[in-house]
Amino acid sequence: MSKDRGSFSHIGFILAAAGSAIGLGNLWKFPYIAYENNGGSFVLIYLLTILIVGFPIMMAEIVIGRATQKSPVSAFLKLGHPAWSGIGWLGIGTGFVILSYYSVVAGWTVHYFLKCMQWSFTEFTPEIANNLGPYFGNFLQNGPMQVGFHLLFIIFSMSVVIFGINKGIERLARILMPVLFLILVGLLVNSFFTPGFKPAMQFLFRMNKITADGILEAAGHAFFSLSLGMGAIITYGSYMNKKESIPKAAGLVCIMDTLIALVACFIMCSIIFSVSEAERASEFSQSMVIMFTTLPKMFYNLPAGQIFAPLFFLLVSFAALTSTISLLEVVVAFFIDHLKWDRIKSTLLAGLLIFGTGVLAALSLGANGPLSKLNPFGGRSEGVFDTLDYLASNWFLPVGGIFISLFVGWIMDKKLKKMEMETGHGPVKYYKFWIFLLRFICPAAVGWIIYAVIFMGKTFN
Ligand code: PHE
Repeated sequence: MSKDRGSFSHIGFILAAAGSAIGLGNLWKFPYIAYENNGGSFVLIYLLTILIVGFPIMMAEIVIGRATQKSPVSAFLKLGHPAWSGIGWLGIGTGFVILSYYSVVAGWTVHYFLKCMQWSFTEFTPEIANNLGPYFGNFLQNGPMQVGFHLLFIIFSMSVVIFGINKGIERLARILMPVLFLILVGLLVNSFFTPGFKPAMQFLFRMNKITADGILEAAGHAFFSLSLGMGAIITYGSYMNKKESIPKAAGLVCIMDTLIALVACFIMCSIIFSVSEAERASEFSQSMVIMFTTLPKMFYNLPAGQIFAPLFFLLVSFAALTSTISLLEVVVAFFIDHLKWDRIKSTLLAGLLIFGTGVLAALSLGANGPLSKLNPFGGRSEGVFDTLDYLASNWFLPVGGIFISLFVGWIMDKKLKKMEMETGHGPVKYYKFWIFLLRFICPAAVGWIIYAVIFMGKTFN
């Protein structure tokens, strides 16, 4: 069956899935939302969601993909449940929305890679160091730059997806992912010696009040970070080798993704708490921008910073790229399967449409007034960029996740799902518990959170 679709090697699936999971969500977004939501309880809820909801749903997505060897919409059709293919449609929309703003931030990392190259070759003077904040502010307000780097990143993603993802990306990921990990460990060790390390740890591990919106954001981010709820993992699962164990692969991807998110959070929060309180309140010390305003300065104070600064941004761009290709692949695979277009035409059209939507996001960070102020959900988001992120990560992904969980828990053929879980693994000890989680706990937990946000909007202790 489907011989020509090809399949990942053992390490290939793990690399591709980890590549999709580990991205700007871990390195850039998690530290900043954890800081904004006051650390502590937020981090705990994130970790609990990964364990109780993320891990079971990751296995469920791989099961759907590998059992059908199809991309999401066709997968549900093939399983004989056309109504459920709505999950696939939602996933395509979500991939579209996420990619359109994600590539804007990915573009920043490319810009900073180039900038650091320039600083390393000339000189990183104290003037530059003291003006990194305003520099970033001007960069955000520069429409042509924002659109240009967004376009560049869409082109990178398209060129990988057009030529297939197997050889180039897999090979590169094998070398670069471990290097990224080493650099992060290096930065972590460095942060032990900063004055901010201790307060950062206290901030991250104390329990405090959290709002219903904060809980939704933590849970939503667990989906975002693991690439769940929109079919990216179904699609990658469809290329997974039958010799491989689904529980082991899913477990490994969840562990790697969580570790990297936590390490990034330790690093960034140590930086935030190393500056004075007054400075911390200023707009350029906020964690959303800290990767671009303070981190470069830190690098150039370290030995061999000239090498590590550009290398760091290169690796972050690379981590973003392995995520954007999985987002683009969901949209492209749909065009190929459903409209029967060839890969080139599908990639070009998907890229163009996503680029167009992304332009609105790119201009909504200050370059264009009305786009930056758009506020359709009350105070919950501001500007196109923020609104797209709010919708996709807090709503579309969790809702998609609930339905995937219900589908595999209740609807999918019993023998088929059991066989898929056992293929390449043998009897799964906690199989019944997994089904129980999918049937009741995951949908109830996420459903309750969404309900709380809509109807209560309360603060929890
Ligand atoms: N998981 C990616 C990250 O953390 C983002 C992503 C979301 C990728 C959904 C694919 C699907 O950056």
